[in-house]
Order: sequence, then C-alpha cells, then structure tokens
Amino acid sequence: SGMDSMPGMGSHAGHDMGAMAQAPVTLAEGEGLRQLPLLANEAGRPGLFQARLTAEAATARFVEGQDTPILAYNGTSPGPLIVAYEGDRVEITFANRIAGEQSTIHWHGMPVPADQDGNPMDPVAAGADRVYAFELPEGSAGSYWYHPHPHGRTAEQVYRGLAGGFVVKAKADPIPAAYGDTVLMFTDLRLAADGSMPDNTMTDLMNGRVGDHVLVNGQKNPKLAMARGAKRRLRLYNATNARFLRLAFANAAMTVIGSDGGLLEAPVVAEEILLSPAERVELVAAFDRSGTATLTTLDYDRGWMGPGRPTDAGLTLLTVDVSDAPAEAMPPLPERLRPIAPLGAPTVSRRLVFTETMAMNATGMEMGFLINGKAFDMGRVDIVARAGDTELWEIVNQADMDHPFHIHGTQFQVVERERDGKVAKPPYLAWKDTVNVARGETVRLRTRQERPGTRMYHCHILEHEQLGMMGIVDVQA
Ligand code: C2O
Ligand code: CU
Ligand code: CU
Repeated sequence: SGMDSMPGMGSHAGHDMGAMAQAPVTLAEGEGLRQLPLLANEAGRPGLFQARLTAEAATARFVEGQDTPILAYNGTSPGPLIVAYEGDRVEITFANRIAGEQSTIHWHGMPVPADQDGNPMDPVAAGADRVYAFELPEGSAGSYWYHPHPHGRTAEQVYRGLAGGFVVKAKADPIPAAYGDTVLMFTDLRLAADGSMPDNTMTDLMNGRVGDHVLVNGQKNPKLAMARGAKRRLRLYNATNARFLRLAFANAAMTVIGSDGGLLEAPVVAEEILLSPAERVELVAAFDRSGTATLTTLDYDRGWMGPGRPTDAGLTLLTVDVSDAPAEAMPPLPERLRPIAPLGAPTVSRRLVFTETMAMNATGMEMGFLINGKAFDMGRVDIVARAGDTELWEIVNQADMDHPFHIHGTQFQVVERERDGKVAKPPYLAWKDTVNVARGETVRLRTRQERPGTRMYHCHILEHEQLGMMGIVDVQA
C-alpha cells in the first residue's frame, strides 16, 4: 500500500543503516545452559507466595571484560523465575528503583484483577513501592510472564532487560516428572562495540526492535547435555520486543503439549513452531539419537518496512549434546492431557482493523500504528464489554507487517483464520493470550472476560504498542 514510495522514507531508513551496518559484536557460545534463578517464596505458610521484585539499573557481562548497563529485576536479566501453584495467593512487592522512570509489573496472560495487572494507568513512580496481590484460580496452570507496562516506556524497559517467567503449576500434572521442566526464555540483544545497548532507531520504531543476538536465558547458544532416549519438557518463551522465531529442532523430535494458557487436550507432533513476540509454547523434546541436536531458526518473512530485513535462517539457539549412553527408560506421554471446554456461541461480535500510516511533517516522519483508525488514548474507552459474555473478536490485518495480537486478563480461543478468501480452522483447541495476525490475514477468536475493570489489548511488537496500536476494553460487572 505505497509504504515504500512515501517521501522521506528512504533518507530516514538510509540514515539508520549507517549505524546498523557496524559488524555485530561476537558473543561467546557453548557455555552450559543456565537455569533461570528462582524467586524465593518468603511466605511462612503453604498457599501463599510472597516475594519482592526490585527493578533497577545493573550490569551484565555479554563480552569478557566489558560491562553492559542493563535494567534487571533483583539484579538478573531475564528476571527471576516465579513458580507457584494453582490455588495459591500471590503477594509481590514491586520496588521501582529505575532512576527517573515510572514502571509497572504486568502479569502477562494471567487471570488477575484489573487493578492488579500493572496497566499503564496504574504507574509506580520512580522510588516507590506497591504490592500486587491476586489468587491463582484452579485450572490456571500455564506458562505466563511478567514485564513492565508504563505508558510510552514499555519497549525500552523490556529490551534493556526487564522480563521474567511466571509458571503456574497444576496440583495434579499429567506430564511425567521424569521429563523435568525447563524454561527457555528468548530475548533479543543488540550490543554496540563499547558494550552499550543502542537506542531505538527509526527502523526499530517502524518494525519493532530486532537485535543482533537471540539469547536463551541470557546466553548465546548455550549447551545442554542429555542422555540418548531422554525426554525433556521445555517451556519456550518469546520475550523479545519484535522478533518472530520460527523454530526447528534438528535431531530431536518435538511434541507440542501446551500453549500460552496451559496444556492442550492431547499432544501434537510438530516439525516447526512459529513463536511470535510474547507467545509461549510447551513442548516435549525427545532425544533418540546420540550426537548433536540443535534448536535452530528458519527464515520467516513477517513483513518489513525499509531496507535491512534480518534473515533468521539457520541461527542456532541451543545445542544439545546427546550421549551414547542410554537414559533410564522414561514413561510415555499420556494420550490425553486435560479437557478444554470450547467457549460457547458469542453474543457480541467486534471487528478490529489494524493499519499502519506514514506521513511527513515539519519535524520528520510521523508514523501511526492504528486500530480502527485510532491511536491509543489512555483517556478513551474503545470497547465496553460485560463480564461473563463470550464475544467474537475479528482481528483484520490490513497492514504490511504481521502484528501479534494480545488481550490482557484472560485466555481466548482462536476459531479460524482467513486469508485470500480461504478459511482455515486451527489444528487444535488451545488457550491463548497472544496470536499472530499475519499481514492480509483475519483471525477470529472467542474471548470472555470474567472480571470487571479496565483491560488493554494491543500489538505485542512493543514499539507498535507504544506508537498507538493499543486499545482499552472496559469490562463491566
Ligand atoms: Cu505482555 Cu500488554 O502485555
Ligand atoms: Cu499482557
Ligand atoms: Cu505490530
């Protein structure tokens, strides 16, 4: 739709390319995979998870002898992994020690009350503390995460290091404990020669920031040792600002067992997995052949404005050394994991059209990332909904890029996707809070908000969210 012919586009993008053309800094690879540090539960009694998360400036060593200034939760990036159980009450004191910046903690995908969800309208001032308190309902087991959501600063706070995993465990878990349970959190790093993280460029704002290195738990291509015949439960998190990860596992077999909001009904064998920004997938990887198994990326064209589309073919994210010695026999995956009740017939339907606009004005390029022709306004309610109603949301992507669509406060079910007049049902029923809407595609989903209050919905390319591709649904009791 004429994006390339916009006046001024070339010069801006060209200016960016100067900075981006610097050879990326080389990072060490092949260290042992680090488990994310666990956030310790300080509560003295069962059923309660109590802890403190402090966001503040820290340094990271990506390159020997060079400190990179980052933002971290409790000193680490990714932040500490929170593991709690269905039925638990959670009380987390957030201390914002980021100099001069407001922040929040948003509990991505979790069924928390609206006023505990770290929305942009509930900022925590620099230097202030606040307690987030919520219960984890029965049936809420899943792979969630937490990240800042302050107005206008989310993208930068996340790419500087603020994001962590939140695993809610089921009391009765059908996945054999012998598979272990490992979180692999993908983040995206751009590092300048002096060890700093460069600010976002115009190209980053348009496309979302895509860095030079995809990291796993903060490491580049770390190593994991497995015995032949072993199976490992892996929770993959795309915690990047804007990178689409199309993943394949060479020399290992992948079986998808869960999505954003917990287990599927039954395991599904997968050759490859597309994980758009903010999505998660739970899988069981089986290592049946000795030698090296590698988790790699395939190229995926998610649409790109201006020159310099990164091609991600053949990046190795994780290397698994599979020994010759056989593992102890592992129990098989159950054939049924749990029932998922389909959301019923919707009583309301809505249409959300995603577009991008570009215009030159006196101060330079003006970009708009819009939903139904509007940019986000914190003082405006875009949708009024009723708690408990099942709604059909039709997300229409008329833009030149894919936009991963996310709704706060609930999990939804994708019913179908339409492209060029062809309608396709998803291969299986799943609870999702983020779904990629490819350019030219329409995704229809059923969603139900159980709790009243103000909820955000937005594109999870964080630069787009920040540039306006976000709206507010006011859920009434
Ligand atoms: Cu992951 Cu509105 O957020
Ligand atoms: Cu969210
Ligand atoms: Cu977007």
